[in-house]
Amino acid sequence: MLNAVMMGGFYLDSIRRMKNGGKGPDDLPLYMTDQPELLRRTLNNRLGIGAHFDNRTWRLGQPELSNAGGEQLLTLFGHEVMSSFETPYMRALAEIVTRTRGNVLNIGYGLGIVDRFIEEFRSTRTFGKHVIVELNESLAQQAQIDFPQCTVINDDWRAYLKQVEPGQFGGIVYDGYPLKPDEIHRDGIEFINTLFELGIPCPGTILTFYADTVDSLGNEFVDYLKSKGVQSIDQIQVKVERPHRSVQYWDYDHFVAPIITC
Ligand SMILES: C[S@@+](CC[C@H](N)C(=O)[O-])C[C@H]1O[C@@H](n2cnc3c(N)ncnc32)[C@H](O)[C@@H]1O
Repeated sequence: MLNAVMMGGFYLDSIRRMKNGGKGPDDLPLYMTDQPELLRRTLNNRLGIGAHFDNRTWRLGQPELSNAGGEQLLTLFGHEVMSSFETPYMRALAEIVTRTRGNVLNIGYGLGIVDRFIEEFRSTRTFGKHVIVELNESLAQQAQIDFPQCTVINDDWRAYLKQVEPGQFGGIVYDGYPLKPDEIHRDGIEFINTLFELGIPCPGTILTFYADTVDSLGNEFVDYLKSKGVQSIDQIQVKVERPHRSVQYWDYDHFVAPIITC
């Protein structure tokens, strides 16, 4: 209840800022949508889910896997973190990130779907090392078992990125999870912003990520990317078949896969 109240305040504040031009306190673009009604719906929906985890709690959490009606579902603390209905979307993100000839970085292991596709693309593409960063201990262990050929880092992406050299990765894919209220519906933006702040992308680096948007990347986010000097900004829509149940985090039959070339 306390969290609902706290997040309610956050929600109202977000809407107020959205109406005031959508800029956050750090001048970050707030959300990847130009449609306040869509934003309102999503934030409203997420209020019920909550997001209030410190890193240690998430790190030590026990992931639960279920298989029902052909759907593989990963939950942590009752949060639906990943579902196999996203498989076509994960394949698209893997296809985009492996266009590089450099090393590939994936943030967030979940069910390992994107990593499986990244490795499958090895047979037809020439990219370097494949590094996986996962905060949850059990999931990081699982990643190392599933992909012994990859480097698995059990850490928060924020900590890991501080050790990354500019240009170390030619392709970066982000699919983490919002652990705090102010990350809901915009954790991908925080990630991209941190990448640029640390000077990690170099000319040619390809970025893609779980875009928490159904319509577009949003004018403000596109302007933000342009201000970072990226070469091109593109996106593809990926159709998915939603399970016959209500999904906590997604109401639509498609996802947006961004293709950003730095
Ligand atoms: C949506 S799932 C990723 C799904 C994955 N793309 C797949 O194909 O199955 C999000 C993952 O990010 C991890 N995660 C959440 N916060 C993180 C953080 N700060 N640093 C690293 N990993 C994080 C979660 O534990 C979870 O495994």
